[in-house]
Amino acid sequence: MGKNKPIGIFDSGLGGLTVAAQVIERLPKEDFIYLGDTARVPYGTRSKEVVERFARQDTLFLLKRKVKCIVVACNTASALALKEVKHVSNVPVFDAITPVAKSLASNGVLNVGVIGTRGTIGSNAYKIAIEKVNPKIRVFEFSCPLLVPAIEEGEISGHLIKMLIAKYLTPLKKKGINALVLGCTHYPIIKKEIKAFMGARVKLIDPAEEISKTLSLFLEENSLSSKKPKAKRSYFVTDLTKRFIKVAEMFLGQKIKSSLKKVDIESL
Ligand code: DGL
Repeated sequence: MGKNKPIGIFDSGLGGLTVAAQVIERLPKEDFIYLGDTARVPYGTRSKEVVERFARQDTLFLLKRKVKCIVVACNTASALALKEVKHVSNVPVFDAITPVAKSLASNGVLNVGVIGTRGTIGSNAYKIAIEKVNPKIRVFEFSCPLLVPAIEEGEISGHLIKMLIAKYLTPLKKKGINALVLGCTHYPIIKKEIKAFMGARVKLIDPAEEISKTLSLFLEENSLSSKKPKAKRSYFVTDLTKRFIKVAEMFLGQKIKSSLKKVDIESL
């Protein structure tokens, strides 16, 4: 059936390549099509209506390319537009928030911190999803709007990022959290710095890892795993500048073998 069709992954920009990296690691034989809406990034500062419209167009682009499922890599789109994506999609949809909540379902009493963009945190989507599966958990959310631009500028170690981490994470540290959800595509890049600040006692939860685990299980259980010997991975963006390839490779953690192709999705 749809076994050998590609997985569709979309994000507001290039940060979602941290999710693509996890898919490559866990599902090396799977083809995928990645769409980064680089012309309209960031989503994290926008209203629900706008994120819904953008996410709908991202989804329609992937559906036109006959994907077997859709991965909403972007936490902001997962928080604000999941209903809309599911509404237009005729294939299964995977978001960033549901697998994180599920991974916390069987834990004892925990204080969990969640960090993300203003859009993600303002929606309370993580808090609602986690408390629904495990009412014993107390969730503390905090938006960190300066982290995305700093990381995109390559500030991933050193004084500036340490300062920002201290600014944003001190209130969560004071709450005595024992787990922290990295609720934004960009944050896995600064995992080491966050770990150093929070200490070994605080477990870091990376939605990218949880998405890829859920996806892998789903493909296996539904006999939808690719039988192709070698994976084909395509990367599309809605705007392209010279710097993008460098930023893209930082998020993917490896060289992008095929080129980034520019596409227009605004008329979808
Ligand atoms: N991809 C977004 C997220 O995970 C971060 C960048 C943006 O604001 O668009 O929330």
